[in-house]
Amino acid sequence: MKIPGHVAIIMDGNGRWAQQRGLPRIQGHIEGSKATKRAVLACDDIGVKYCSVYAFSVENWKRPVQEVEGLMTLIEKALRTEIDELHEKNCRFIASGRLEELPETLQQAFQEGRERTAGNTGMTLNVLINYGGRAEIADAAKRLARKAIAGELDLETIDEDMIGQALYSPEVPDPDIVVRPGGEFRISNFLLWEVAYSEFVVLPVLWPDFRREHLVEAISIYNSRERRFGGLVRDEDDRQL
Ligand code: FPP
Repeated sequence: MKIPGHVAIIMDGNGRWAQQRGLPRIQGHIEGSKATKRAVLACDDIGVKYCSVYAFSVENWKRPVQEVEGLMTLIEKALRTEIDELHEKNCRFIASGRLEELPETLQQAFQEGRERTAGNTGMTLNVLINYGGRAEIADAAKRLARKAIAGELDLETIDEDMIGQALYSPEVPDPDIVVRPGGEFRISNFLLWEVAYSEFVVLPVLWPDFRREHLVEAISIYNSRERRFGGLVRDEDDRQL
């Protein structure tokens, strides 16, 4: 089986999971964070090199303040608790998004986690937080425009590679596969630039119920797809079909 280099996950269904059980939504996120740990460890174990998880979008601030605060606290706690194990497993931690708008203590936790694991050579865990695909592209445009105004960049040289390099985490390759639990066929402003040629796998399982077997299922669906990157399929003799 071909192992995708970069698995990106839209962690969806925490609210529905809680609602089905008559529990507050935050309980769904708490169980969801356990699923995140399972998924990250499974990715590492399987040999995935980059794992991106969508933890909080720029749109998520519109949720009730209690839920937003609960999520921020949960994410910070999860990071502070799990960073030792990530480090032991030689994993690198990074975060992508408008990080400067996050609570100070969370920013600090991210910075500490990033610095501590910067020299590791195993899987990179990329947490997308206060992230929006359109916001990322707008921020990249602003960064390039600033350089052009400062005379450090000739407008005519701007190309796709340069925009890619101006995104939040240019060292992370584009996702090979986007996994969306929760059954919805939507991209939800997730990695809009980067998913140009990613395979999209939607699974009916709600995120808190996500297990290693679901990741394996997603990877085997990915293996059954034929990626053409806009080109033509060629057989073993390299003839055009
Ligand atoms: C979407 O479910 C999920 C989120 C907005 C939060 C995801 C965050 C976690 C799982 C916390 C752990 C993260 C890390 C990085 C430790 P939803 O509430 O939109 O579900 P619904 O569609 O059923 O309402």
